[in-house]
Amino acid sequence: MSEWLKKIKEVSLEQIPTTEPERQYYFMDLLKGWMEEQVAEKGRKLTYHIQTFGCQMNSKDSEKLAGILETIGYVETDTEKADFVLYNTCTVRENANTRVYGRIGYLGTMKKKNPDMKIAMCGCMMQEAHVVEKIKKSYRFVDIVFGTHNIFKLAELLYEDILRGKMVVDVWEGTEQIVEDLPSEHKYKFKAGVNIMYGCNNFCSYCIVPYVRGRERSRKPEDIIAEVKKLASEGIVEIMLLGQNVNSYGKTLENPISFAELLKMVEEVEGIKRIRFMTSHPKDLSDELIETMKNSKKICTHLHLPMQSGSTKVLKEMNRKYTKEEYLLLVDKIKTAMPEVSLTTDIIVGFPGETEEDFLETIDVVRKAGFDSAYTFIYSKRTGTVAAKMENQVPEEVVKDRFNRLLEEIRITSEACANRYTGKTMEVLVEEENEQGEGRLTGRLSNNLLVHFNGGKELIGKLVPVNLKECKGFYYIGELIL
Ligand code: SAH
Ligand code: SF4
Ligand code: F3S
Repeated sequence: MSEWLKKIKEVSLEQIPTTEPERQYYFMDLLKGWMEEQVAEKGRKLTYHIQTFGCQMNSKDSEKLAGILETIGYVETDTEKADFVLYNTCTVRENANTRVYGRIGYLGTMKKKNPDMKIAMCGCMMQEAHVVEKIKKSYRFVDIVFGTHNIFKLAELLYEDILRGKMVVDVWEGTEQIVEDLPSEHKYKFKAGVNIMYGCNNFCSYCIVPYVRGRERSRKPEDIIAEVKKLASEGIVEIMLLGQNVNSYGKTLENPISFAELLKMVEEVEGIKRIRFMTSHPKDLSDELIETMKNSKKICTHLHLPMQSGSTKVLKEMNRKYTKEEYLLLVDKIKTAMPEVSLTTDIIVGFPGETEEDFLETIDVVRKAGFDSAYTFIYSKRTGTVAAKMENQVPEEVVKDRFNRLLEEIRITSEACANRYTGKTMEVLVEEENEQGEGRLTGRLSNNLLVHFNGGKELIGKLVPVNLKECKGFYYIGELIL
């Protein structure tokens, strides 16, 4: 038995803190001892790799997982040939699931070559009982399974796994707890996401997110601001505030505040130059928010406003709580207040009972609203949701045909939209050297469009003026103005 294990077995339970985050720091410290032993044995540091599926919530969670692993002493590697591989999964549509299953098998073959390898499955898929059952039955080589509510517990789970030597499964149904002050990595040096709320209470009838992410919980504004200030002190200039429905932020807090008020507080933080947020539910978008965006110097001129369908009948079945007319009115209000705003959306095609007329209503909104871009999804039946029980599912070939027609419509309108900036000089946040190599940069406009232009990589993370020479649909070719 390893010296470390011997020592650990002598640790009395009373020594382990019961409050968070102290408890997790305690386990991270213990694991540092284990890591030292591993390094001595293997003559190298242990590596980790996190594969993230799904939305920005999951990306943010992965940064927290990375923060914990780096604290223990793991170093990141960009392939699955690692000592610890974690899959942070998504289940919003069936194909997200299929992709994960396809790859777990592959991990099994990797583990045969490296029996010390550890494999963890976490994220939204793990919140579904049938998924956990399948892993327990068919993928016995997985070491740790946990869900979305106890991401913060990774150190403790790893500790248990090492101690017990068999699969550790810890999935919570829900939680009220928000654990602050744990370590977190960020992928970029100049932009970062910040959770402002967790979960969702909307129960759109097609959507699994409320079931796998639990009820809506807002972080306290002081905790959010403290995190933003810390990020700013580390050189972050762009912040993305994250929540499934940011417009209902703060309503359930002991001292309720509105999302617009939170934005004003974030705006005050010195060093932050751009503020973005995701996602806005149209039903909760307030006049106060429009006013705040309009008057702000830092809030980006981009609004992602998922419409899902243009048919009032379908919207009702989806439980979205707005009509086609209300949606268009809102778009009009936003564009009147902010003519420069770039509007993007999400659309689902083939929701149960969607007729050709319903679909044409969606096309009609696409034509009238003038989206800069739209993410389109084929309806995917999610077990446990209200829509999964609806009988009148639309045949696959009908859905595919509508989907293609919608794509074409969006291509035409978004091209016209994007083109409106051609010839202008706008501020660009330089993000990276692009695949064309040295001297070719990619940056982002406030309205979220990408721009490619010539420049040195010392500009990465800086805001620079770029003349937009030519529009290529979803991106621009530009020229740096010195
Ligand atoms: N909270 C966000 C959306 C999160 S999910 C919002 O309400 O705007 C991102 C997108 O996935 C949704 O906007 C929706 O268009 C799509 N989506 C969710 N469930 C889906 C399903 N069952 N089938 C197809 N698309 C779905
Ligand atoms: Fe899903 Fe609707 Fe909640 Fe968005 S608002 S996460 S679509 S239930
Ligand atoms: Fe997917 Fe979970 Fe996000 S289901 S879309 S990763 S909240």
